[in-house]
Amino acid sequence: MSNSYDKHYQTENLFGDPYPELIQFMAENPDKGTLLDVGCGQGRDAIELARLGYTVTGIDRSKVGIEQMNQISKAEKLNLHGLVADIYAFNRFHEFDIILLDSIFHFTEKDQEKELGLLRKIGSQINSGSMIIVCIQDTGNKVLILNQAIDKARKLKRLKDLAFSYTFCDDETGHKSVTNYRLVIVVK
Ligand SMILES: C[S@@+](CC[C@H](N)C(=O)[O-])C[C@H]1O[C@@H](n2cnc3c(N)ncnc32)[C@H](O)[C@@H]1O
Repeated sequence: MSNSYDKHYQTENLFGDPYPELIQFMAENPDKGTLLDVGCGQGRDAIELARLGYTVTGIDRSKVGIEQMNQISKAEKLNLHGLVADIYAFNRFHEFDIILLDSIFHFTEKDQEKELGLLRKIGSQINSGSMIIVCIQDTGNKVLILNQAIDKARKLKRLKDLAFSYTFCDDETGHKSVTNYRLVIVVK
């Protein structure tokens, strides 16, 4: 299984540091349970969350990203295991206390039904008390679509909905870009 990200991930730490707003919430959360990072890429979130004390599984179809993450996990002896897997075929969401989806949903016309189907599947598989954390670009009507889907899934209660902006600096070119994001956290 491979994808275009195998090539992109030749660049180390492609997406930069995790969002401080996500890390602050996760650091303050008293229950450092089991966490699944869905589409973890090179592990920018998964690695930091394992360092915070979570027991993390990361799944991604990029073998290159998973290998990079697993190497760091091994070197630092972290509670972090990466698996090459298709997030749409995954069926073990009930094994985790927290499901993280960072920059996975785009809700383009082509992908919307598939992505909303994944959110519904996660919502129905997780146990009561488990959390779903979504980080999504705040452009177009993405956040609206996400919030409508959450409202429709009556078993999910909104815990946090935070708008923030993230500055990414390309170390090689010095180019800076600012993107608006939303951090939406729900509990079942
Ligand atoms: C924009 S990146 C985000 C990576 C990571 N969550 C982060 O925020 O740094 C999207 C990731 O989703 C993965 N991905 C997309 N579709 C997938 C699928 N069907 N199964 C597994 N991984 C997938 C890609 O390989 C890529 O690593």
